[in-house]
Amino acid sequence: MTKESIIDFYKEVDTETLIVEAAKVCQKVHGNGVWLRGLIEFSNYCAQDCLYCGIRRSNNKVTRYRLNEKEILETVKSGYQQGLRSFVLQSGEDPCFQASVLAGIVEKIRNGFPNAAIVLSCGVKTEEEYRLLKKAGADRYLLRFETSDPALHAKLRGGIPLERRLKALSDLKEADYQVGSGYMVGLPGETEKIRIQNALLCAKLELDMAGIGPFIPNPDTPLNEAKQEDIILTIRATALLRLLMPKTHIPATTAAGSLDKFGREKMILAGANVLMPNITPIAYRKHYLLYPGKICIEESGEQCLGCLALRMKSIGREIQSGRGDALAL
Ligand code: SAM
Ligand code: SF4
Ligand code: FES
Repeated sequence: MTKESIIDFYKEVDTETLIVEAAKVCQKVHGNGVWLRGLIEFSNYCAQDCLYCGIRRSNNKVTRYRLNEKEILETVKSGYQQGLRSFVLQSGEDPCFQASVLAGIVEKIRNGFPNAAIVLSCGVKTEEEYRLLKKAGADRYLLRFETSDPALHAKLRGGIPLERRLKALSDLKEADYQVGSGYMVGLPGETEKIRIQNALLCAKLELDMAGIGPFIPNPDTPLNEAKQEDIILTIRATALLRLLMPKTHIPATTAAGSLDKFGREKMILAGANVLMPNITPIAYRKHYLLYPGKICIEESGEQCLGCLALRMKSIGREIQSGRGDALAL
């Protein structure tokens, strides 16, 4: 099917039919297996002030923290011992974790765990910084474009143009990373047309990984009065992405599981094939509150892994061990 005919199909059919088709494509390409990425939220300091985000610079209710190198390495070790082979190091845009500092940590993970995938999600950096981190051993980078609408993007991100994130994504590709991007679903000011453009931009960028999740208004941000859109929009977006990008890895995100008890299962059934258990040391988790109602704040990494295995079994899926690298597009 061409992109145009997929969009027509998406517009015409009911959600159930859309999901059935996306699930067929997912099954054919990815089977019943679901990949895991252990998420380490290593710093909630951020120099940026995105209107939607709970850890934005201006939110002075946040208790700020940073994991030190030893804590990060111990967290990776513990996840590795539990079978994880892919680790996402995520943070705000923290000036204390300059690329040179981060590169030292990446190098230690690379040497200590040679067969694990190292994924970074630390915001916009220069092309040279991305290259330095790649050289240190990073394999992948996640940087959502958040919304494909230039005016909405600039409005929600303190005037920073969408172009800047797109430039960063192109720099990452040039530096030979497996590249992930994506967007939030249901941002205030978003229309159905923008939602379709969001999915089409993911396809145009030929992403190895496409991460989406519902926008959940945070009471401690300027978007505190924004409307909470229904999870169904995220489920439809998942199915559309899967039809447009059969081989791309698509995570069933924590935000979906936070908005709806079975949000992650619903995303998997609509075409997602990845889960990202939070393995951040428990003491810090409650301070990385991007949105209210975030799940897995009190549970250990081990508990979440057990929980996810059962959840996947309940819908006929199976956790698979390994790095889960990008498939050749
Ligand atoms: N600072 C890096 C960045 O912005 O790419 C990585 C960390 S940032 C907290 C990770 C993602 O959280 C963002 O890309 C955004 O899509 C998501 N996020 C932030 N606030 C959110 C909210 N209120 N609801 C749902 N997702 C949110
Ligand atoms: Fe910072 Fe990322 Fe939150 Fe924006 S979304 S304020 S860059 S942590
Ligand atoms: Fe964390 Fe279920 S996945 S408690």
